[in-house]
Amino acid sequence: MLKKLKEKWQVSWIQFTFIISTFALGGSLCGITGKKLLTLTNIERGVIYFVLYIITITIVWPFCVIFVSIPLGQFKFFKNYLYNMWRKISRNSSIFNHQSLVAKRIAIFASGAGSNAEKIIDYLQGSAFIKVGLIVCNKPEAGVLTIAAKHNIPTLLIDKDLFFKQDAYVNTLKNYSIDFIVLAGFLWKIPMTLIKAYPNKIINIHPALLPKHGGKGMYGHFVHQAVLANGDTESGITIHYVTEHFDEGKTIFQAKCQVSATDTPDTLAAKIHQLEHQYYPKIVEKTVLAADYSN
Ligand code: GRF
Repeated sequence: MLKKLKEKWQVSWIQFTFIISTFALGGSLCGITGKKLLTLTNIERGVIYFVLYIITITIVWPFCVIFVSIPLGQFKFFKNYLYNMWRKISRNSSIFNHQSLVAKRIAIFASGAGSNAEKIIDYLQGSAFIKVGLIVCNKPEAGVLTIAAKHNIPTLLIDKDLFFKQDAYVNTLKNYSIDFIVLAGFLWKIPMTLIKAYPNKIINIHPALLPKHGGKGMYGHFVHQAVLANGDTESGITIHYVTEHFDEGKTIFQAKCQVSATDTPDTLAAKIHQLEHQYYPKIVEKTVLAADYSN
């Protein structure tokens, strides 16, 4: 059981020991504080005293563990732990279920190496406002699945027929409580069903300066080859909303790099990847937080 918990929390045995110690010390502090607070009320021991004690320690407990976590160096862990707890409670309770209190959950659709997906996951790790809730992929051998496993993120391997001819996995995404979709190296066109289910809440990154070098078949090295063949002196990245047409949605952000005479598709790809890793996670965060979730 302890081993399972350690794996779930993804911590070393040393950190695990500190976490358990925080729970123990925080719990004791909470018990003592609860009793001290109740002595101020002069209520005699009985049912009411007991009920009040339970309520008091429930309220005081998060403060106690956070307090103890600081000297034990576990503040970050407990901040996330308590936040996740709050999220679960608010998700299941109509009283607390207010949009702004619940972190937005994103699904990353990727079918390649997944370097962008990993940068986004790393960047959002510990965020109280956005969680990567699912990795969606259409290739069982894709590197992104290993990345998802490493970070303990659920994955969904999708089937072409179901994606295009049925409900485009809208129900599955809703079951995972996905609020926003981020494409990062996903080559299938996004069906209208999905676009309608997530209006203005699907974004993509394209490895060139759209509207140049976009459209069907323009992905990976084909894009860089086209840039070089065209004699462009600059290229870059475009982050844009997704519509039913490849690479045609409104641009959210662009960043540029120089193309030199000695560049090859490989060297250009490396420059572009650097830009993608530098900007995509930040733009994802900004766009997810700014989106309108009322529709
Ligand atoms: C990126 O170059 C992105 O622009 C494009 O697909 C590529 C994915 O690369 N849409 P990676 O799998 O994230 O390394």
